[in-house]
Amino acid sequence: MLDASGRPESAVVLGGTSDLAGAVVRALARRRLRAVVLAGRDEERLALASRAASDAGVAHVTTVHFDARDVAGAAGVVDECFAAAGAVDLVLLAVGVLSHQRDELDPARTAEVVAATYSWPAVALTRAAARMREQGGGRIVVLSSLAALRVRRTNFVYGSAKSGLDAFSIGLAEALRGTGVVVHVVRLGRVATKMTEGLPLVPMSTTPGSVADAVVAGLASGATVVWVPPIARWALAVAHLIPQPVWRRLPF
Ligand SMILES: NC(=O)c1ccc[n+]([C@@H]2O[C@H](COP(=O)([O-])OP(=O)(O)OC[C@H]3O[C@@H](n4cnc5c(N)ncnc54)[C@H](OP(=O)(O)O)[C@@H]3O)[C@@H](O)[C@H]2O)c1
Repeated sequence: MLDASGRPESAVVLGGTSDLAGAVVRALARRRLRAVVLAGRDEERLALASRAASDAGVAHVTTVHFDARDVAGAAGVVDECFAAAGAVDLVLLAVGVLSHQRDELDPARTAEVVAATYSWPAVALTRAAARMREQGGGRIVVLSSLAALRVRRTNFVYGSAKSGLDAFSIGLAEALRGTGVVVHVVRLGRVATKMTEGLPLVPMSTTPGSVADAVVAGLASGATVVWVPPIARWALAVAHLIPQPVWRRLPF
């Protein structure tokens, strides 16, 4: 059960091998988290993430296997996670694949990025919301991106998929208002993780620790949208005013 500060005892992590999810799990373990289900595609990385969660103090760690390219299977994966967890205080959605300019003309890669970053998450969130409504409440945290808010030339496939997921999550938050299920959309700047390996830091970059702290603060405040770093909220308001011919020349 969540405490008065929105701190969960049990969580399901969709994208359980994500570096950012790992930071969030460790931060929650320092508070109250005692049980977590980590869902992911790679057995070795799942074993490492399980060990890290146990080392951080999570008493019960279980794993569920899925591949986000199987969009039709998403609801079943969520059911499997809920069956393994029992009551679920928090669902953290951390699945996603970054696209690069080099593969923007590859239809198979576009299909993978869109499936893992938008379609699978949208179906999984729909099922998670229904399961949380059945149990009478809970929190859903979605890791969104500043790249969703003004799509950039360099990663527009990913940016557009994140854009869809961000809009979907805001809509879901509205649809669930008054049901006891609360959705938090966490809009992040770039973070050095395995997803961004080899990429330079850009304006509004942040750290896994800051993301984890922002998630904990968002759970406590109940905010629908959480910005990391907080100033990104204003920077993005300005970014929307920049004409496209200027935007496309910016070096990020
Ligand atoms: N890092 C950033 O700069 C940044 C900025 C804004 C938002 N985000 C978002 O934060 C979330 C976590 O990203 P991260 O930085 O922690 O990167 P990450 O470590 O690469 O996490 C991405 C997660 O998605 C999983 N995944 C990818 N394709 C999958 C598939 N086909 N089936 C199942 N799982 C799949 C990865 O599994 P594997 O471990 O097996 O690859 C991993 O668990 C993502 O949603 C990302 O879009 C990240």
